[in-house]
Amino acid sequence: MPIQPNFLERTAMFNLNLIPGVILEIGGALAFQTVALAAKMGLFKALAARPLTSTEIAQTLNSHPRGTESLLAALASIGYVTEKNGRYANTRMTEKWALDDEVFNLGASMTFWTAVFQELSPDWMQVMQTGDRPYGSIYEWLENKPDIADAFQQQLMANVTFTGADVIKKLRWAETAVKLLDVGGGHGLFSIMLCEQHPHLYATVLDTPTALQTAKSNIAQHGLGERVHLLQGDLWQVEWGDGYDAILLFNLIHHYDAAKNIELLQRCAAALKPGGQIAILDQIAGKLPGNVSNAIIRLIALHYFLLADGRVYTHDDIQSWFQQTGFTEAQFHGIPKAPGTSLMVARKG
Ligand SMILES: C[S@@+](CC[C@H](N)C(=O)[O-])C[C@H]1O[C@@H](n2cnc3c(N)ncnc32)[C@H](O)[C@@H]1O
Repeated sequence: MPIQPNFLERTAMFNLNLIPGVILEIGGALAFQTVALAAKMGLFKALAARPLTSTEIAQTLNSHPRGTESLLAALASIGYVTEKNGRYANTRMTEKWALDDEVFNLGASMTFWTAVFQELSPDWMQVMQTGDRPYGSIYEWLENKPDIADAFQQQLMANVTFTGADVIKKLRWAETAVKLLDVGGGHGLFSIMLCEQHPHLYATVLDTPTALQTAKSNIAQHGLGERVHLLQGDLWQVEWGDGYDAILLFNLIHHYDAAKNIELLQRCAAALKPGGQIAILDQIAGKLPGNVSNAIIRLIALHYFLLADGRVYTHDDIQSWFQQTGFTEAQFHGIPKAPGTSLMVARKG
């Protein structure tokens, strides 16, 4: 839970400008470290069975008694644990969002972002000044870091568990499609979910070798090795094949400039059957009603730039690419659980 100023603090900070609002950012960074540390130590999991005293937690986790007390007090102040009669328990928020990795993978998110901040952020001044990234793009960086690459895919998978069913419900073509290509499909969960719902469907997940390690284990877990295949390599280099009924470009177009995205859509058009469908899922630029959604989308857009020369586009941009590449019947659907994200589908004309 972010630090929430009370009425007096809000007035002093935001209305009267008497206190530097930036302390909330410092507090947020400290809170991030605190929660990352607690997740890494297994503290929330240790509290899942029953409330424990600080001493019992220190014994269970083999941690320093005074440090553990301090950690618990810090976590209580930001809403992750509560204390009653000397015993600590997870809050409802922690129970819902920090314990079930399928719903929100706190450990994977913290592992991924900690590695990004430690290893990539020292170069961000240079990225801002020159537009050059010494690490290439985040995916080049991840190729030599299987553990971090898996954490990256695991946090994406939790997003799919959270919003995937809503996305898939809107893909009406899935009922009749037989052959699907999932470009930059990573963990493969979208293909897996679609194949589970539609027994006639075969899918190919195209991604880098490291990302496909996660996909491979997911496909095996779901027993779909016969129907979800892997195509390994750089999507700009490998041969995609053709005759597809549908192609997914999910969370991919934000990596490329407009010219590259038009090229991507042209490749999709060439690989699709006549009447075949393209589906794009991505964050969309523009002002959102919610303060949190608005800030998150803009912060994400900046980090897309820093990590991969990325950006977010408007519906109009994407509509114009559809027109330029021969796609028709475009439809745009919001995803209510993910404000600022749209599913955009169109048909090869
Ligand atoms: C943000 S993830 C999206 C994963 C999945 N489609 C989803 O929506 O959850 C982008 C994926 O594109 C893959 N990717 C990026 N550039 C690629 C390239 N040049 N060739 C193949 N895959 C690429 C990454 O490895 C990553 O798995």
